[in-house]
Amino acid sequence: MRLADCHNIEDFRRLAKARLPWPVFDYIDGAADDELTRQRNTAAYGHADLVPNVLAGVQNIDMSCTIMGRRSALPLVLSPTALQRVFHWQGERAVARAAEKFGLWCGISSLATVSIEEIGAMISTPKMFQLYVHKDKGLNTSMIERCKEAKFDCIALTVDTIVGGKRERCLRSGFSSPPRFTASSLLSYAIKPRWALDYVFREKFRLPNLDTHVSQGTDEAMSIQGYFSTMLDQSMNWDTAARIRQDWGGTFCLKGVMSAGDARRAVEIGADAIMISNHGGRQLDGSRTPFDQLTEIVDAVGGEIEIICDGGVRRGTHVMKALAAGATAASGGRLYLYALAAAGQAGVERALTILREEIERDMKLMGVTGVDQLGRDMLRWR
Ligand code: FNR
Ligand code: LAC
Repeated sequence: MRLADCHNIEDFRRLAKARLPWPVFDYIDGAADDELTRQRNTAAYGHADLVPNVLAGVQNIDMSCTIMGRRSALPLVLSPTALQRVFHWQGERAVARAAEKFGLWCGISSLATVSIEEIGAMISTPKMFQLYVHKDKGLNTSMIERCKEAKFDCIALTVDTIVGGKRERCLRSGFSSPPRFTASSLLSYAIKPRWALDYVFREKFRLPNLDTHVSQGTDEAMSIQGYFSTMLDQSMNWDTAARIRQDWGGTFCLKGVMSAGDARRAVEIGADAIMISNHGGRQLDGSRTPFDQLTEIVDAVGGEIEIICDGGVRRGTHVMKALAAGATAASGGRLYLYALAAAGQAGVERALTILREEIERDMKLMGVTGVDQLGRDMLRWR
């Protein structure tokens, strides 16, 4: 299978699976416990039907919108994801450059393998830094100050990882940050020579936003589940979030809100946006899907805070449905990660081209010339 044979996100998933050592693929593709929520995140979009209008004169349409005060060429955000240079040696650099080329928000994780400073200097399009609140308070302050220096556009505080989800595929494979080549896993890496040669002979693995303060995850291999459960501050609460917003002083988003009550509290602490998310099913398995939860949250706080529907998005029609239900935008991680793993920046650019074409086609078939024309009257639940 080649890049040119990829015509949808599922094709990229297949190509990624062929190219990656299975422990790395399983880290991306896998989720918590029985992986029910991961499956349902995408399946949920199949439970709603679009009701198009016709004869709307759609020769010229505008797919752009404003997300957290910045223009975006599409109603789509590239969600922050960790360890990207483990998936492909170009890592976050490839995703950031592709995001800039397509005029999209790009999220950089606390556990990114490229530094805040480098990404900040590299791209001119909107940059989101995703903050994990660590027990090491100096580290938290350091990341916030570095984002100010690097002129990041937003800090997204992730709030659904107070402990690590049970990632059973990773428990079986022993996947860790950085990857360990144990006797049992060595073969799985060795039989993927292109990946292995890149990983061993190109730039050394590190977590540059963290290794100024902690060795875990960089010099000391740890599972992600273990990292969350030992390194993050489990006392984090709404006062913590309000203080971080205050310290940062810029555009502030909460990532991982799922209840209408928490959405209301996000408004009360002055957050600019919430990402309704269950972390791609990687945390609380059995959690409702963001798309299913969306209308309840829109009815509670719509118009008072921006609402990004995160997770399970694999098609332009999923973006249409999320916007029709009242989301400001949709977002996702695997929708570009499979493509990154499959073919680096060229892969991500192909995936974004496919999604942009689908969004354009779907808007035209829906009879809308602008994303703000999508509304709940165009959606029916089965
Ligand atoms: C993630 N996600 C994530 N979220 C976050 O806040 N910080 C992080 O470091 C990561 N890392 C990460 C790695 C990998 C491999 C995946 C698949 C996901 C979650 C991510 O931001 C997003 O919420 C989910 O990916 C959404 O689900 P989909 O789009 O992947 O189905
Ligand atoms: C994950 C973390 C890094 O989902 O957010 O793997």
